[in-house]
Amino acid sequence: MGASRVTKTAQGPLTGEGVAATRPTLDAHRQRADFAYLEELVNGKPLAYLDSAASTQKPRQVLDALREFYEHSYANVHRGVYRLAERATEAFEGAREKARAFVNASSTREIVFTRNATEALNLVAYAWGLDNLRPGDLVVVTELEHHSNFVPWQYVAQRQGAGFRYIPIDDSGELQLDALERIASEGRVKVVATNLVSNSLGTINPVEKLGAWAHEQGAIMVVDAAQAAPHRPIDVQALGCDFLALSSHKLCGPSGIGVLWGRQELLEGMAPFNLGGEMIRKVTLERTTWNELPHKFEAGTPAIAEAVGFGAALDYISAVGLEAIERHEHELTAYTLGRLGELPWIETYGPPAERHAGIVSFNVEGVHPHDVAQILDWEGVAVRAGHHCTQPLMARLGVAATTRASFYLYTLPEEIDRLVDGLHKVKQHLG
Ligand code: ALA
Repeated sequence: MGASRVTKTAQGPLTGEGVAATRPTLDAHRQRADFAYLEELVNGKPLAYLDSAASTQKPRQVLDALREFYEHSYANVHRGVYRLAERATEAFEGAREKARAFVNASSTREIVFTRNATEALNLVAYAWGLDNLRPGDLVVVTELEHHSNFVPWQYVAQRQGAGFRYIPIDDSGELQLDALERIASEGRVKVVATNLVSNSLGTINPVEKLGAWAHEQGAIMVVDAAQAAPHRPIDVQALGCDFLALSSHKLCGPSGIGVLWGRQELLEGMAPFNLGGEMIRKVTLERTTWNELPHKFEAGTPAIAEAVGFGAALDYISAVGLEAIERHEHELTAYTLGRLGELPWIETYGPPAERHAGIVSFNVEGVHPHDVAQILDWEGVAVRAGHHCTQPLMARLGVAATTRASFYLYTLPEEIDRLVDGLHKVKQHLG
């Protein structure tokens, strides 16, 4: 297999003692009663959905909240004075308050609803970047960044004549922070952008350290938490960042809605991103003034029911408990790495289990990841194969793609056993 790649993940099978010491309080069997997708058969086999990093399945509670809202409380928001419109606005703004509490922001003014995490990150790159970046400045991203926190910065930096740098990873898929000094010597660092959890490798990144370094440089710290927020508690005040993005569809909520959290003083100083209805205070033939936060950044009719469904999803995962979800996924990850580690024809990527979220990327020797995923699908096991929107990372690994299994609160160890059985079939047919 390729030469310049991240080395095999350090791991070992989880011992009985290890399991007992970190026994999760989450009962995945019980949670599964909330998910109708489990009734699906694929090729006559029960579906083992191991692609939750791409998008999670939705529990009945979220689907019920959507239906209930559409049937009994639906109208446009912030416009009507009639009862139904007031109820809709209350539900929509109630979801904003739930999002505020979820990330521990100090005010709902700091919670901007967007279409997804990608749009949230574009908002910052455009609305902050176009007015604050100039030649001599540097934007710093990471080598394991998702394209959504990479491409907008690369584009805006180029447009503004600013430099663009990346923090490299080491052979276990972790950021090499000793590169920071060299980077700082190459220009004025104005933006540091990183994910909290890598969607490809599952690496948990040291955002607090990076945030402290960014602020020492006089830079803003931008965090893509799309892959972290569903799986571990997020506290924007403790993280010490300036902007943070997340998506509803990765945490049991509907697609089409995400959140940008930003520090109020920064959001207040920024020009709007989209313009039109809702985001204005006064429009005359000569000029327009902007609405207050967060509405300045929410032009047009928002994703109203999706926000309500997102609020229901936050209630759902908060009731399960983020710590319990994190522990459950940690156990699944350690178990997967242990099982895959027994197979010499499998290469796994990323750090050891303790610094690894519920995502395992791997390759089967001599078999293209798409073929791996195809054969697994015949066995009823759904995984993602591809570059996972991280082409610079794939180049670093020396591969075009990987196969990725990812977990959530409904995943069982038995489903990982089915993954491993399926991989034996892949090996038998194509290896
Ligand atoms: N960003 C999503 C993934 O990692 C779509 O699959």
